[in-house]
Amino acid sequence: MTMTTEEIKMAKPKNAVWLEKYNSKLVTSDEAVKCIKSGDNIVVQPGCAAPLELIRAMVRRKDELENVSIYHILIVGDLPYTKPGMEKHFKHKAFFIGGNTRNAVNEGRAEFIPIFLSEVTLLFKKGILTSDVALINVSPPDEHGFCSYGIDVGNIKTPAEKSKIVIAQVNPEMPRGLGNSFIHVNKIHYLVEYSEPLMELPQVDPNAGKEVLEVYDKIGQNVASLIEDGSTLQMGIGAIPDSVLKYLHDKNDLGVHTEMFSDGMIDLVEEGVINGEKKTLHPGKIVAGFVLGTKRSYDFLDNNPIFEFHPQEYINDPFIVAKNNKMVAINSALEIDLTGQVCSDSLGTRLYSGIGGQVDFIRGASHSEGGKPIIALTSSAKGGTITKIVPMLKPGAGVVTSRGDVHYVVTEYGIAMLHGKTIQERARELIRIAHPNFRDELTQFAKETYHI
Ligand code: COA
Repeated sequence: MTMTTEEIKMAKPKNAVWLEKYNSKLVTSDEAVKCIKSGDNIVVQPGCAAPLELIRAMVRRKDELENVSIYHILIVGDLPYTKPGMEKHFKHKAFFIGGNTRNAVNEGRAEFIPIFLSEVTLLFKKGILTSDVALINVSPPDEHGFCSYGIDVGNIKTPAEKSKIVIAQVNPEMPRGLGNSFIHVNKIHYLVEYSEPLMELPQVDPNAGKEVLEVYDKIGQNVASLIEDGSTLQMGIGAIPDSVLKYLHDKNDLGVHTEMFSDGMIDLVEEGVINGEKKTLHPGKIVAGFVLGTKRSYDFLDNNPIFEFHPQEYINDPFIVAKNNKMVAINSALEIDLTGQVCSDSLGTRLYSGIGGQVDFIRGASHSEGGKPIIALTSSAKGGTITKIVPMLKPGAGVVTSRGDVHYVVTEYGIAMLHGKTIQERARELIRIAHPNFRDELTQFAKETYHI
């Protein structure tokens, strides 16, 4: 809802200059989005941070707009521009597909750009993609006139800085994330004071069956057994990271360097298990690009000096990741073939998610001193009826982590180490941790094809 500047509760200005500018740029959302023209490229702050009021205002103008391209990774929340009937007006170009855009992408109303997360923001920095208008959602300014990008710094700061026009939803619900995470009001062209709760990512499904939860638990224990005291962690998206965190309470001096932070880590920080003391890069800090979680995370990070947020081209740069000794990267997959090719972004030709930061962190961890790149997945899908360890990937499946990059693969049945192993050794290792119902057919294939 629209608020007065007083209600927005800005910090007391240290000087009047920026405040004057701030006041002169205040408009309603409908006035702000009038600057969008047909054919424009728009970048949107993604994740749970999306400026929903600005999106709604842009879509209210649909009849005046044609061929507007909208770039971002997944956004949690309603995305009206991907709905049927919007094709003529808007085309979403996804760097990472979410549940709410999956049908749009696979039905042709939206498109997918396969790209490492470390390079999404570089597309704008290098001018490979241009942005006419950036839609951002920021905290009210501090006394110096700086607004924080809050829970998503990584994916938006660089593209916004390269945009011709920046429209900001000034939202008191946005926490003040610290680090390289601010934009000054002087750099914003239109300011829309509008308070609304941030989106939240549902945590582990409480309705999941007991068997499913047991499987995740075993994976969590197996992965945790690989994590030594003093390690620095990156956790990917999905149910598996949370099951790993459950088994880290007796570890010591863990650190975090991750593209994404979520609720699951908070208890470990509060207990002092995660303290960053042994980190070789940014010691003592949780270094992250964005947060996908609930209000618990948003409150936790607000003005919290343990956090240092940075643009994604820094966070995910494999060379930066590798500077963390004992870097452990934990990511998941949809399928892995017997040679170690990891598919994580599609089910055959059906595009499912994206490359994200998986390869950035797998490579970073493999070059880190004492590092461990881990792919953790359930051995089967759909109640044990489909094996995820497969003779060959489904036709059309996208290899995200190549068989040259893969090291550890973990399921509920154990840990396979593929790095430095022959195809035959890999096949044996993977069959050992496959679901028992499929081991015979996998062995048969491996005998016929790879002569194991
Ligand atoms: N064949 C058919 N269906 C399969 C399948 C397979 N091999 N593997 C999984 N599925 C189905 C599951 O049954 C589930 O379907 P449902 O939603 O109807 O239950 C769905 O696909 C998702 O599978 P699940 O194993 O639950 O995925 P997840 O939520 O744990 O996410 C990835 C796993 C791989 C999609 C996710 O980690 C990802 O997108 N990774 C790539 C990017 C990345 O790693 N980034 C790094 C950090 S964010």
